[in-house]
Amino acid sequence: MLSRKSRVASFVSTFITILFLVQLCGCAGIELSRYYKRGIVVTGAPVATQVGVEIFAAGGNAFDVAVAVGFALAVVHPEAGNIGGGGFAMVRDGHGGLVEALDFRETAPAGASEQMYLEDDDQVRPDASTTGALAAGVPGTVAGLYELWQRHGSLPWEQLVTPAAQLAETGFLVDDYLAASLEKHRESLAGFEATAQMLLTGGDAPSAGDSLVLSDLASTLYAIAAEGPDGFYKGTVADKIVSCMQEHGGLISHDDLKDYKSVWRTPIAFQFDSLTVYSMPPPSSGGICIGQILSLLQPYDFATLSPMSVEYIHLFAEAARLSFADRSEHLGDPDFYDVPKGLLAPPYLEHRADLIDKDQATPSQQISPGAPISGESEQTTHYSVCDSAGNTVAITYTLNAAYGCKLVVEGAGFLLNNEMDDFSIKPGYPNLYGLIGGEANKIEPGKRMLSSMSPTLVFKDGQPFMVLGSPGGSKIITVVAQAIVNFTRFHLSLAETVAQARFHHQWLPDILYLEEGRFDINTIQGLIARGHNVKEQEPFSDLQAVYIAEDGLMTGTSDPRGRGSVGGL
Ligand code: DON
Repeated sequence: MLSRKSRVASFVSTFITILFLVQLCGCAGIELSRYYKRGIVVTGAPVATQVGVEIFAAGGNAFDVAVAVGFALAVVHPEAGNIGGGGFAMVRDGHGGLVEALDFRETAPAGASEQMYLEDDDQVRPDASTTGALAAGVPGTVAGLYELWQRHGSLPWEQLVTPAAQLAETGFLVDDYLAASLEKHRESLAGFEATAQMLLTGGDAPSAGDSLVLSDLASTLYAIAAEGPDGFYKGTVADKIVSCMQEHGGLISHDDLKDYKSVWRTPIAFQFDSLTVYSMPPPSSGGICIGQILSLLQPYDFATLSPMSVEYIHLFAEAARLSFADRSEHLGDPDFYDVPKGLLAPPYLEHRADLIDKDQATPSQQISPGAPISGESEQTTHYSVCDSAGNTVAITYTLNAAYGCKLVVEGAGFLLNNEMDDFSIKPGYPNLYGLIGGEANKIEPGKRMLSSMSPTLVFKDGQPFMVLGSPGGSKIITVVAQAIVNFTRFHLSLAETVAQARFHHQWLPDILYLEEGRFDINTIQGLIARGHNVKEQEPFSDLQAVYIAEDGLMTGTSDPRGRGSVGGL
């Protein structure tokens, strides 16, 4: 569908880009990018960024900052920041340079089953996998942040959790962004008493400038500060989670909580030009899909292309179409499903590349998942942290949808995820992001649901060069891949890279999504002429990126589409 706005989109696009850059630079003339020497932190919420800067100032390393920011976001960015959800971290240890992936994705409760969201007649029960207690997987965030701290942290654990507990206890100012977000979701949040009590006042969303005090969350965070993961997975908080499940028809049990474990995994690593990219392995699809898309683009000469050219958008969309087809068939939790090892193998990708017609879109019905060789081989949030010792952390974590399943654990003050919807709840049935799947991603007790989250580190000459990631569901994959191309192939500045107009294709539905008002009419018509089904959509994702220069100085950009910020020392 082509909106009428497209006719003036060329003008609008330029205007919006200028606005974005003005926002990035500040309003009073041009301010040069800030470069930091000791450490940098880029998050989706300014108060959380400030917590990170204070931990650097207290002598913390990038891992300490990442832990403290993770808890702070759970307070000041409640739509996505969480202790009731899960996520992934891509980390590089400055000592020795080892890069590892930490998986703290939620798991299906032991009582989960393949049929759990289906009626007797096999129809999907509306909303059951997205709203309320049954939608929640066993949370992984507290275990994950603790594991990160145990292996890499330098300051005492309590010191890292306390700032978040204090923010919840004394209250923080609701900004325009949070006020608007709570108003947008007011009705669904009001559906659960404990949620309404925590986030609404007399049924109304707070206004910008109000102070939000979250006393129950403060108590939970103080318990975590004092006892570590036991303060969450055992004892009174665990009792409250289980009571909440019993009252609202959920499945998470004491044993599920006690048994939850985060897992260190080997990252997906691949070459793009002279760069080495590390991104998240299964149970995220991020690393493999970004690797496939960039590898399929690798042979093309970009000298005559630009980030807005029809030729480039077409090629990228065709690569993404092929990759998302593979995602639907081959990817799932590797502890339960034998993910083929050959999905990034050059001979396999050469065969897939043959399916790209560089002039014409191939309808998705004509594209199937490939047969790789086996045996070898609104609302998430992302933040990026680095320090001068070469410690580097990219974390993406989430409740899945904004405010997760909308259910607050009574007396414990935190929202639960609705991550069970990321499983294929019925073969071919689309999830919240329109993604479909089958056997590889079916529900099984204890299994992790397939993700698109892609915390990513890019290395140049063996040194960290870019740290990036984003929310956006399935769009995370294309947003991160486009940012790498914009920065490294099109040589945009970091600010331009992040502000650049985005597009997305995920095989099914067979639609090429364009950010509304950002692409001019000639581009849109050019894409339609190539056979793409174009649809404009409101701006998407919230990229948080860092660039580390050769001399070690660090700069960052928080997506102008969001309200985040960059801080450092
Ligand atoms: O793991 C995933 O892929 C999704 N649960 C991520 C959700 C997300 O990014 C929502 N943000 N807009």
